[in-house]
Amino acid sequence: MVLGRILRSFSSNIGIDLGTANTAVFLEGKGIVLYEPSIVAIDTKTGRVLAVGKEAKEMVGKTPENIQAIRPLRDGVITDFEVTQVMLTYFIKRVIGHSILRPKPITVIGVPTGITPVEKRAVIDAAKSAGAREVYLIAEPMAAAIGAGLPVEEPIGNMIVDIGGGTTDIAVISLAGIVISNSLRVAGDEMNEAIIQYIKRKMNLLIGEQTAEKIKIELGSALMEEEEIEMEIRGRDMTGLPRTIVITNHMVTEAIEDTVSSIVNAVRTALERTPPELASDIADRGIVLAGGGSLLRNLDKRIEMDTGIKCTYADEPLTAVARGLGKVLENIELIRRISME
Ligand SMILES: Nc1ncnc2c1ncn2[C@@H]1O[C@H](COP(=O)(O)OP(=O)(O)OP(=O)(O)O)[C@@H](O)[C@H]1O
Ligand SMILES: [Mg+2]
Repeated sequence: MVLGRILRSFSSNIGIDLGTANTAVFLEGKGIVLYEPSIVAIDTKTGRVLAVGKEAKEMVGKTPENIQAIRPLRDGVITDFEVTQVMLTYFIKRVIGHSILRPKPITVIGVPTGITPVEKRAVIDAAKSAGAREVYLIAEPMAAAIGAGLPVEEPIGNMIVDIGGGTTDIAVISLAGIVISNSLRVAGDEMNEAIIQYIKRKMNLLIGEQTAEKIKIELGSALMEEEEIEMEIRGRDMTGLPRTIVITNHMVTEAIEDTVSSIVNAVRTALERTPPELASDIADRGIVLAGGGSLLRNLDKRIEMDTGIKCTYADEPLTAVARGLGKVLENIELIRRISME
């Protein structure tokens, strides 16, 4: 008893939002202690890991041939198991330290609702080999809803839409369960890709992922804006020479329109499938948006226009999932109730 209590006081359980774009780690009793890009830089000649997280991101697109910056998760799922393991181990160790005396942490990990059994296994194995004791998987939209402070345990319909880098997770939650969910492997990164393709097709210019993201954040809008905003960008033309062009917010809106409309349509589909009583709660209470992709200008207004339902943002949309996992850690009963098989 006493020993158990002493050991527990040393133990700091953790919540991990293993995102396609960013990983956030919540340490019990401390809050969010780590928030870094989900990227690992590897020396392809020696196989050595050179950098993880922020440091590795700075190497993307600027790396010499023998350095490869790998994003081990794509579309919200693990595409490179070994590299994910390296990354998780690095982040977990950085958060909990290396002490062998410290008990291994209970770890809750947010995953997309559309995750397959094989992918689940891969996430659990990666966390265990990184030093976790018990691992629980929690659907990301459930964690986001808890992080956003929604009354998920009450008999009320709550709708959360988490638009990340790789996945858009839409869920209707009531009585601590997900009643309706829709997981789309289309989100913020797809907008970047659409911008890259648009500029290549219309302007014969090649740009990298980071430039595309910058363009999206500065000029992107889910609705055609009246005012025109311009931005100068540099890329390479087809002959390989650097060239500067001017693009506008209107072009970017056009470029990302297909992506935006697939996200909005997925929200509509989820609403159509929602049982009437819960749908009427959602109509009263509105839809809550979370995730970095939801920060695209006017996306809230666009969803409101197309669904007729008011949209609001979770506080700090980028960390809603991790903060939700943090709240879940305080309640082991709740973890067991809402975790996936
Ligand atoms: N201000 C902004 N406007 C538009 N998009 C943004 C903004 N800030 C961040 N993003 C986009 O948000 C995405 C990352 O969001 P987030 O960190 O929630 O994803 P993630 O949790 O890592 O991914 P997933 O949940 O799909 O696994 C990126 O595509 C990024 O470009
Ligand atoms: Mg996410």
